[in-house]
Amino acid sequence: MMLKIAAEQSLGVDQEVVVVVREYENDRDKVAVEELEGRCEVGQRGKPSLVTDLMGDPVCRVRHFSTHIMLVAECGEEKEIVGMVRGCVKDVTRGNSVYAKLAYILGLRVSPTHRRLGVGTKLVQKLEEWCKQMGAEYAYMATDCTNEPSINLFTKKCDYTKFRTPTMLVQPIHAHYKSVGWRSTAIARIPPQLAETIYRRVFANSEFFPKDIDAILKSKLNLGTFMAIPKKSLPKWDPVESLLPPSFAILSVWNTKEVFKLQVKGVSMLTYACCVGSRVLDEWMPWLRLPSFPDVFRKFGVYFMYGLHMEGKHGSYLMKSLCNFAYNMGRNDGGCGAVVAEVGQRDPVREAIPHWRKFSVAEDVWCIKKLRDAKQGESKRCEPSDWINFRSSTSVIFVDPRDF
Ligand SMILES: CC(C)(COP(=O)(O)OP(=O)(O)OC[C@H]1O[C@@H](n2cnc3c(N)ncnc32)[C@H](O)[C@@H]1OP(=O)(O)O)[C@@H](O)C(=O)NCCC(=O)NCCS
Repeated sequence: MMLKIAAEQSLGVDQEVVVVVREYENDRDKVAVEELEGRCEVGQRGKPSLVTDLMGDPVCRVRHFSTHIMLVAECGEEKEIVGMVRGCVKDVTRGNSVYAKLAYILGLRVSPTHRRLGVGTKLVQKLEEWCKQMGAEYAYMATDCTNEPSINLFTKKCDYTKFRTPTMLVQPIHAHYKSVGWRSTAIARIPPQLAETIYRRVFANSEFFPKDIDAILKSKLNLGTFMAIPKKSLPKWDPVESLLPPSFAILSVWNTKEVFKLQVKGVSMLTYACCVGSRVLDEWMPWLRLPSFPDVFRKFGVYFMYGLHMEGKHGSYLMKSLCNFAYNMGRNDGGCGAVVAEVGQRDPVREAIPHWRKFSVAEDVWCIKKLRDAKQGESKRCEPSDWINFRSSTSVIFVDPRDF
């Protein structure tokens, strides 16, 4: 894959610079790619930003998809790596139990020294070519609503449309455990097969529910699926006979800590001092139960809660208990700095998930593009209208933990 870009303006030289887009090769590119990743902070300039440590495996964010790729952009005679992008293709629901082949584009990075030269656009275009070869009908990407360069690149240069705006809810882990309500609530760990059956049933009409949910639930990164039900319904509930009790909440926990670590950089000395101060105070006077600020300035991992669903009149209370249960799991794990969930803006579970507003992202922007028509006789037969223009009948978005 070769492309030529005119770079006189930005590089200050009156010559053409050749950029080659090719597939990532671990032995050849690993060091350069890691170095570049470290220089590409995601966030607004002059504001605190989040840096990702890929822990020696640049492909880690797509490795858990059976169909995945990573591309790099290499520049000039020195073959300097100046950009990269990852992608994967999977089957997901687009509502009403209809499946579509969807590509997910993520981890796009361009060296600060080579921006606004078309490298990012070219990486996306080349990745789209591969996605089409893999049979993808649609491609989508997700970014923070404040990431103007990324949103512009996808919407203005690559014809993507703003599609869904889920909310990311973050609960930092501090010194204290949270109440699970053990007196009234029973929490059971659900075996993967039962979890799969329940999920296929309750998320059948949602969007983005992955066909290979079984692979996710069986992954070693999945720490378990948990169900909360009122204690008084426990004797009457037979998971084999009656799959779902009248009131329940369910969620699964994914350990991203084994895949990547995060670190907050760029806060002022004053903010840093206040955060340290809150922890010291909490250590001295734990009985005050101050919500001391966790140490996010060192590398930390995250537990991602996914597959959140609740039903019945106690659903909201049970969901809160389950989230607190997941929080306590993270609290017991030394390297976990936060529990995070991402749900649709209008999904009823949103109100039941405890979170810190300051850390949460009210609007994550997902942009989508149609790459090609479905094969005759496949999903087109069931749903003639296009996913992008079709008004969704559901407020529920299943956020795949591998996408996080
Ligand atoms: C986003 C990013 C990949 C863009 O790479 P790039 O090579 O500079 O992008 P391109 O040169 O192909 O730019 C294409 C278009 O994107 C938009 N764009 C790019 N940078 C922009 C900026 N700083 N401000 C506003 N729009 C911008 C413009 O519309 C641009 O077209 P134009 O130059 O004709 O105006 C790069 O800024 C980056 O690595 N950022 C940090 C990591 C990140 O946020 N990644 C995206 C995560 S989803």
